[in-house]
Amino acid sequence: MGDMEKFLFKFKGYYFNRSPLDISFVENLDNFEIRENDVFIVTYPKSGTIWCQQLLSLIYSEEHRTGTGKLETMDRVPFFEYKNPEMDFGERPSPRLFSTHLPYYLVPSGLKSKTSKIIYVYRNPKDVLCSYFHFAKNVTSHFTGTFEEFMKQFLGGRVMGSLWFDHIKGWYEHRSLFNIQFMMYEEIKKDLRGSVSKICKFLGKELSEVDMDAIVRKATFENMKYDPLANYDNIIATGYGPNAKGHFLRKGTIGDWKNHLTVEQNERFDKIFQREMKDFPLEFIWDMNED
Ligand code: PPS
Repeated sequence: MGDMEKFLFKFKGYYFNRSPLDISFVENLDNFEIRENDVFIVTYPKSGTIWCQQLLSLIYSEEHRTGTGKLETMDRVPFFEYKNPEMDFGERPSPRLFSTHLPYYLVPSGLKSKTSKIIYVYRNPKDVLCSYFHFAKNVTSHFTGTFEEFMKQFLGGRVMGSLWFDHIKGWYEHRSLFNIQFMMYEEIKKDLRGSVSKICKFLGKELSEVDMDAIVRKATFENMKYDPLANYDNIIATGYGPNAKGHFLRKGTIGDWKNHLTVEQNERFDKIFQREMKDFPLEFIWDMNED
């Protein structure tokens, strides 16, 4: 596994990113005290996490909508398992908003009380693979190999987040244990306003048309890319050095995999996808032109 190995930490069968990890926190995740109005975004990496962090933050924070607040989105909807050591989750006011890449079996058991809410965002895995490859190569720089080599790591589950198939199937098959709404990246892309309404309905939030307009405006790819509070370029510069070439907001499109996978790689991917996802009921969108 070479350079990837140094970057990963395996705990209970799941690969974490080693460096920003507080191991004692991770060992005690199960007992973390959940409040009834906590909201978690759950994603496999590169599936639209920071987009949904921005959406949740805009839905819950008027000062974020009006642009009067100066907090980065990451401070409004912090990462759960990769927490900033200075942030005390116990002191955060309710409703607390979190994002996580955890598999269903590692989240705090308090989430099974079903009063707190989970939004699971998924994306077609070929685009996840491509987004992940660029991120690993150009942002974290923990991967220096070829696309083919990265594809093997990804399809073998030897990346932070482990195996994409296990993540989505685990969450979907155990959905009845949680109060969970599944959202598709591609649907959010195609219908941002309708998706915000769907999220608001799930969260029981009623917003005015003016608020909805502000959310939709501030959550577009173009707006987020150039918004220093939303694009996490600061986090990249602090975490990975000023020379990191890539961005969290890279392309934000559907079907970029067509620019990466060869015919043979695509056929290989399809075979594995069909085997792993046979009988899985959620739909996927692979191309921008699909209905
Ligand atoms: S991470 O590192 O796991 O938190 O990454 P994550 O945020 O899950 O995924 C990053 C990809 O999401 C895209 N993104 C968006 N697409 C469309 N519209 C908006 N507003 C948006 N915000 C983030 C981002 O560009 C990454 O995808 P790629 O394909 O690399 O561009």
